[in-house]
Amino acid sequence: MPVITCIDDLKRLHKRRAPKMFYDYAESGSWTEQTFRENTSDFDQIRLRQRVAVDMSNRTTRSKMIGQDVSMPVALAPVGLTGMQCADGEIKAARAAEKFGVPFTLSTMSICSIEDVREQTKAPFWFQLYVMRDEDFVDNIIARAKNAGCSALVITLDLQILGQRHKDLKNGLTAPPKLTPSTLLDLSTKWRWGLGMLGTKRRTFRNIVGHAKSVENMNSLHSWTAGQFDPQLDWDKVAKLKEKWGGKIILKGILDAEDAKKAVEVGADAIIVSNHGGRQIDGCLSSIKMLPSIVAAVGGQIEIHLDSGIRSGQDVLKALAMGATGTYIGRAFIYGLGAMGEAGVTKALDVIRTELDTTMALCGRRDVTTLGKDILLIPKDFEGDWQA
Ligand code: GLV
Repeated sequence: MPVITCIDDLKRLHKRRAPKMFYDYAESGSWTEQTFRENTSDFDQIRLRQRVAVDMSNRTTRSKMIGQDVSMPVALAPVGLTGMQCADGEIKAARAAEKFGVPFTLSTMSICSIEDVREQTKAPFWFQLYVMRDEDFVDNIIARAKNAGCSALVITLDLQILGQRHKDLKNGLTAPPKLTPSTLLDLSTKWRWGLGMLGTKRRTFRNIVGHAKSVENMNSLHSWTAGQFDPQLDWDKVAKLKEKWGGKIILKGILDAEDAKKAVEVGADAIIVSNHGGRQIDGCLSSIKMLPSIVAAVGGQIEIHLDSGIRSGQDVLKALAMGATGTYIGRAFIYGLGAMGEAGVTKALDVIRTELDTTMALCGRRDVTTLGKDILLIPKDFEGDWQA
């Protein structure tokens, strides 16, 4: 067993242990993958200021996200098909998050259902909603999330139509995988994954199958999203969803200051500055580059969270210092899950917390809630000099 010291170690193991089509699903951006690449490389452009001879004792990574205590401001992002990376993946990730004291967000497009995760965990989790054309289905899934005690509804706004990911089409992505000669060849080397899958009944989209009208089989994500997601989702519909939910709402997929202002108007509790991990629009700027303009527009009026590109505690530190109050990891925990199940998710969280804590100390700071740009060196042209 290799010694795991960083997220990249988990990624290598994930690639070895999970079927190619699911590893590729996680490790894809849309089209040229420019935005996917820049989400991570833009973090590297920001540098840290080393400060010395500062008391480093009594440090804390504790904070709050939407009023909830978190052991560090790093939530698990909603990731579709998580239960295909490893059997019962959503349950395992939710358990790891619960023990670690960070929020877990369950995707609408998950394999384990809301009820599955509820039965197997104690802490309230967050539920991510994709808005479908079928209003009864939406009403019903909101009611199911309420019944399960979910403590926030995360409404995704940037995926009403799907950005094309070449690898998924080439691999013929389905859940469960269709048994073709090439998948069988691949699965023959993934015995650990296969044993896990044989031992669970959760092998398709259990939030949907049996709940949406005439959906018996929706194993092709691409054709299903094209047919079912509501292309007419607009701010009025968001306002109605907020009313129906009646609890905390987080709007995911805000990448523009004008949209951030609309999120404030609609009364959201938080926004997630996000380009969906580079999986939707390709060619936009990274989340970390868009963060400063959004902080300038709505900072202080709404909680600002960020995802897309975070692979380390240093990245978390940079996002917080740039004005986010919470962050999310998607791929970083999925690598851990695909590598080692629940223990791998815990490992990913551990790696990130240690990196965050140590780097914060080396910047001369002790409390993640009091970070600011003064610990950073940001290139003068970081946000880009674009024409009006
Ligand atoms: C779904 O959220 C996806 O990005 O595939």
